[in-house]
Amino acid sequence: MEARHRSIEEVHKRRLQRIKVKDVEKPFNISIQDKGTKCKSHPLKLVLLIIIVGTFATLLYPPTVCYPDHISDAVYQSHFVNRLIWGDSDPRYISPFDINWEEISKVMEKMSGMSEIQGVGLLNFNKSEINYWKEFIPFANHTVLYLDHVERNMTWDTLYPEWIDEEQEDEVPSCPSLPKLEVPRRRLDLIAVKLPCRNEGNWSRDVARLHLQLAAGGLAASAKGNYPIHLLFVTKCFPIPNLFTCKAMVAREDSIWLYKPNLNLLREKLQLPVGSCELALPLGAKEGDYLGNIQREAYATILHSAHVYVCGAIAAAQSIRMAGSKRDLVILVDDSISNYHRSGLEAAGWKIRTIQRIRNPKAEKDAYNEWNYSKFRLWQLTDYDKIIFIDADMLILRNIDFLFGMPEISATGNNGSLFNSGVMVIEPSNFTFQLLMDHINEIESYNGGDQGYLNEIFTWWHRIPKHMNFLKHFWVGDDEAVKQKKIHLFGAEPPILYVLHYLGYKPWLCFRDYDCNWNVDILQEFASDVAHNRWWKVHDAMPEQLQPLCLLRTKQKAQLEWDRRQAEEGNYTDGHWRIKIKDRRLKKCIDKLCSWKSMLRHWGETNWTDDAFLTPPPPSITKASLSGEILTATTVNNTEDNKILYEDRFEFFNLCYIAMPFYTDLEISSNITTFCSMNPRRAWWRT
Ligand SMILES: *[C@@H]1O[C@H](CO)[C@@H](O)[C@H](O)[C@H]1NC(C)=O
Ligand SMILES: *[C@@H]1O[C@H](CO)[C@@H](O)[C@H](O)[C@H]1NC(C)=O
Ligand SMILES: *[C@@H]1O[C@H](CO)[C@@H](O)[C@H](O)[C@H]1NC(C)=O
Ligand SMILES: *[C@@H]1O[C@H](CO)[C@@H](O)[C@H](O)[C@H]1NC(C)=O
Ligand SMILES: *[C@@H]1O[C@H](CO)[C@@H](O)[C@H](O)[C@H]1NC(C)=O
Ligand SMILES: *[C@@H]1O[C@H](CO)[C@@H](O)[C@H](O)[C@H]1NC(C)=O
Ligand SMILES: *[C@@H]1O[C@H](CO)[C@@H](O)[C@H](O)[C@H]1NC(C)=O
Ligand SMILES: *[C@@H]1O[C@H](CO)[C@@H](O)[C@H](O)[C@H]1NC(C)=O
Ligand SMILES: *[C@@H]1O[C@H](CO)[C@@H](O)[C@H](O)[C@H]1NC(C)=O
Ligand SMILES: *[C@@H]1O[C@H](CO)[C@@H](O)[C@H](O)[C@H]1NC(C)=O
Ligand SMILES: *[C@@H]1O[C@H](CO)[C@@H](O)[C@H](O)[C@H]1NC(C)=O
Repeated sequence: MEARHRSIEEVHKRRLQRIKVKDVEKPFNISIQDKGTKCKSHPLKLVLLIIIVGTFATLLYPPTVCYPDHISDAVYQSHFVNRLIWGDSDPRYISPFDINWEEISKVMEKMSGMSEIQGVGLLNFNKSEINYWKEFIPFANHTVLYLDHVERNMTWDTLYPEWIDEEQEDEVPSCPSLPKLEVPRRRLDLIAVKLPCRNEGNWSRDVARLHLQLAAGGLAASAKGNYPIHLLFVTKCFPIPNLFTCKAMVAREDSIWLYKPNLNLLREKLQLPVGSCELALPLGAKEGDYLGNIQREAYATILHSAHVYVCGAIAAAQSIRMAGSKRDLVILVDDSISNYHRSGLEAAGWKIRTIQRIRNPKAEKDAYNEWNYSKFRLWQLTDYDKIIFIDADMLILRNIDFLFGMPEISATGNNGSLFNSGVMVIEPSNFTFQLLMDHINEIESYNGGDQGYLNEIFTWWHRIPKHMNFLKHFWVGDDEAVKQKKIHLFGAEPPILYVLHYLGYKPWLCFRDYDCNWNVDILQEFASDVAHNRWWKVHDAMPEQLQPLCLLRTKQKAQLEWDRRQAEEGNYTDGHWRIKIKDRRLKKCIDKLCSWKSMLRHWGETNWTDDAFLTPPPPSITKASLSGEILTATTVNNTEDNKILYEDRFEFFNLCYIAMPFYTDLEISSNITTFCSMNPRRAWWRT
């Protein structure tokens, strides 16, 4: 069990060491890594400079050009000249658009202490723009900052590889280091940067753009003084929203963005690896070490109009408590979720927030993911500083509270350079929510879901180990050894995995006897009886009163039997279709129509709709939720007293609604109310 953990710690330690080493090395790096572009007292270059452009008086600076008081023009000049000589201009960094100086002056008006600016740092502006800056703030000293470019073969995929050797089986993954800005020994109150925003649609996954922002942030974060530092970006596209947060934004005019970042937060974030090329772990974190701010941190999930996930969310809550976390649990639901389901969620420990759904304007009408953008509402949970979002189809097997120490967005890798939005750390902020909403008509999500969209906004994300969002999934290419290893991970006791993510048919939509993914050929890659049984253990640990929320609809029973027959016909070699169902849920009915067999007779006919079988949900479980009001404020007391309170309720609906016996081939024509009034004590299944 500890092997995994140790390796995480090792990675972390190693990273810290590397950071330290890097820091120590920095002075050397700067002088050794000279690629002919830095301000240096390089004799040969100096000679060349003097020969070629000797007529420029400005070049007659002494060789000690890097020293603070002379840095400004000299740095720029030597670079400029080197570009002329060595053809050094790098198209990746060029941002060929005309600055609107009026916008800059509007933005600067909003900057407190504007008149006290002593030093301005300028990064990635060309000669004429720099001159303009000097005229623009004539009373300040201008330092032209020069940044070594990253190597040309460094692409986004280098920084965000699809896969890294997290287990360190063959190698220790490590990110390349990007050149940093030399810290001038002069005070800088304002650092202005011009960022490229390339039109090709890839502007947010642009290495040069990232590099400039990290370098500028790093320079700001290195300030030791006790004065505020402002960062100003000139760019048509928004700066990295989880590095330069909307909270820290002072003003914005079209393409001018002014920030006053919290330097401590900035430092923390810049300690992280540059990309997902390495695991990013909480600073100094060990499981159990993280204390955090309990009141301001919560787990959250969302139900996309889907009752069917209620059972999953209850089990997820159960698993979080079993893993030992005491953080708040917040669930976002829309008004399609009935009071009955809400009360079950509350009883399980979820605090309910009723939200207005958000439609994806690019989704087709009634598409499965039409409303998935509702997830953005997580950013409106501003009574918390940090949220660990989890999908409702997960089990938390080990406490992951330490993830609250991670910044937005920490997540596991998906494919390509994308993260998986199933588990992610986010930082609620009304401004970030607004940012998400502002681009809804413009940014296309590759899968039409929130994952694709969030990946376009938060391209700068931090990788956490796969074990924190481990997919119940066998790749087609997994060989037997890999399969066995996964199965071992699913079942290990005490658990090795932190979070297990149930893909495919959800365990509560199968009979408990076996994983019903086996019976559908295209879902077999999700089938694991070991993982399935693990979920059912958590189910059985749920308060008995909540288990009825996991009962099967008649239609689902019919579906399961239909799938089973297909598997039988196909003579599937795994043979699960032979297993006789003992799950008692087979005989419990929560619908008006209880005969799945008669339903099967018409299976596959397109004519009938679900609506014919809809039964109003049973009454709520707690008193609090009976009022039918929006339940934002009510919380359920998990005390014994309350248990009794809702047990009474359960008496009622157990006996009538849940306990409706299952008549094999007999179509039930009477409605549920009739049934209840006629059979007040038909609780035979309870024994
Ligand atoms: C600087 O950049 C602006 C905008 O791209 C351009 O109009 C101007 O000509 C450039 N000046 C020099 C000296 O390159
Ligand atoms: C600008 O730099 C010069 C030389 O280092 C210094 O004398 C002067 O005080 C600085 N001005 C401001 C406003 O900081
Ligand atoms: C880029 O090229 C350099 C040599 O020019 C090489 O050392 C380095 O590994 C390459 N980096 C990548 C990411 O390919
Ligand atoms: C955009 O990025 C992707 C992946 O990084 C790359 O395959 C594609 O060629 C890029 N497109 C452009 C126009 O640069
Ligand atoms: C990731 O996978 C999805 C489908 O599984 C695909 O549509 C998408 O293009 C992939 N993205 C990358 C960056 O490979
Ligand atoms: C964010 O917005 C919500 C409602 O829209 C409001 O209740 C909350 O106070 C706001 N939070 C902050 C920090 O402004
Ligand atoms: C969108 O929401 C539905 C539930 O309504 C869920 O089944 C689906 O996985 C979500 N899709 C994405 C891409 O997040
Ligand atoms: C099913 O497969 C088994 C062996 O895998 C074979 O003996 C049997 O004849 C097959 N049955 C049918 C109906 O194809
Ligand atoms: C649909 O069902 C109705 C009776 O309920 C029947 O008259 C009609 O022919 C059916 N249509 C199709 C396309 O099966
Ligand atoms: C929870 O129960 C305790 C003791 O029974 C009671 O003092 C408290 O007021 C209850 N809280 C709520 C929110 O009902
Ligand atoms: C359900 O049964 C009650 C009592 O027999 C009856 O009044 C009511 O109309 C029935 N409702 C439906 C929808 O059949």
